[in-house]
Amino acid sequence: MNFTGSNILSVNQFDRDSVEYIFSVADKMQPYARRQKRTKVLEGAILGNLFFEPSTRTRVSFGTAFNLLGGEVRETTGMESSAIAKGESLYDTARVLSSYSDVIAMRHPKSGSVAEFSEGSRVPVINGGDGANEHPTQALLDLYTIEKELAYHGQTIDNMHICMIGDLKYGRTVHSLSKLLTMYKNVRFTLISPRELSMPSSVLDALDTAGHAFHITETMEGIVDADIVYQTRIQQERFASPQDADQYRGRFRLNQDIYTKHYKPNTVIMHPLPRDSRSEANELDNDLNQNPNLAIFRQADNGVLIRMALFALTLGVVDQVDQYECPV
Ligand code: CP
Repeated sequence: MNFTGSNILSVNQFDRDSVEYIFSVADKMQPYARRQKRTKVLEGAILGNLFFEPSTRTRVSFGTAFNLLGGEVRETTGMESSAIAKGESLYDTARVLSSYSDVIAMRHPKSGSVAEFSEGSRVPVINGGDGANEHPTQALLDLYTIEKELAYHGQTIDNMHICMIGDLKYGRTVHSLSKLLTMYKNVRFTLISPRELSMPSSVLDALDTAGHAFHITETMEGIVDADIVYQTRIQQERFASPQDADQYRGRFRLNQDIYTKHYKPNTVIMHPLPRDSRSEANELDNDLNQNPNLAIFRQADNGVLIRMALFALTLGVVDQVDQYECPV
């Protein structure tokens, strides 16, 4: 895949080679992310960071990644602070903002909205999450984390067993991650959710086509030999009301006691975050915070590396990062 000038809208645009190339670039970003080295390779460049839906990690890590490469960030947050609230189209917004920016990262509550926006943009657009559809940069950082965590235990993504738990219908991160995993061999899936919140058939079809075995269940059976457990939050914002979401909260809790009794040693615990820490939900208890296999904060840290890699790739500066090094 030729990244320079490309939009990053869906994981469907990647093959395994391009994913592994992104990961190799992310590895090279580590000394810059850790502040051991400094580069100004994107000095003078501007990121338009447009978040029309709440975000902590994705929005701030896009901005941090761009700053760490020497660029500047212009940001808008919330629908109400944008002219979209006055009826402006995504096309017009893109056409205008892309002349103020060198690259745009965007999150929006509507499925397909970031692709629609990209049609009006003159610069690369990176999808930071479009409704319940996709979250490609999260899927890349999740997969990067899985590769590192499994390698630590001498395992590979090929032949692993992953359990995805929770709101698999509206959780866009599990849609994108599942599609990325179709590029690997013999991955076994256990998909645990309330029946009403089960994985969409389009994702199941993709797993089927890839030859991956999947087991769909409403109980926590099947986790005993999982290599990766990927918990998700009930996506309240996709329901008609908070009360509609309430009926599903708290069904699939994980805490240290359950982990010790029912999981095999070294099962890696993941969650895209935010976790819903209210007592009625609490899908991932704080008592797991000292568990060395809890990878959730390593996941979030890896988001900066992946987003640095994507900026360097889409702006065509991968080979110049070290040429623009400056004193730390
Ligand atoms: N994982 C994730 O997308 O988190 P934010 O909603 O905080 O960006």
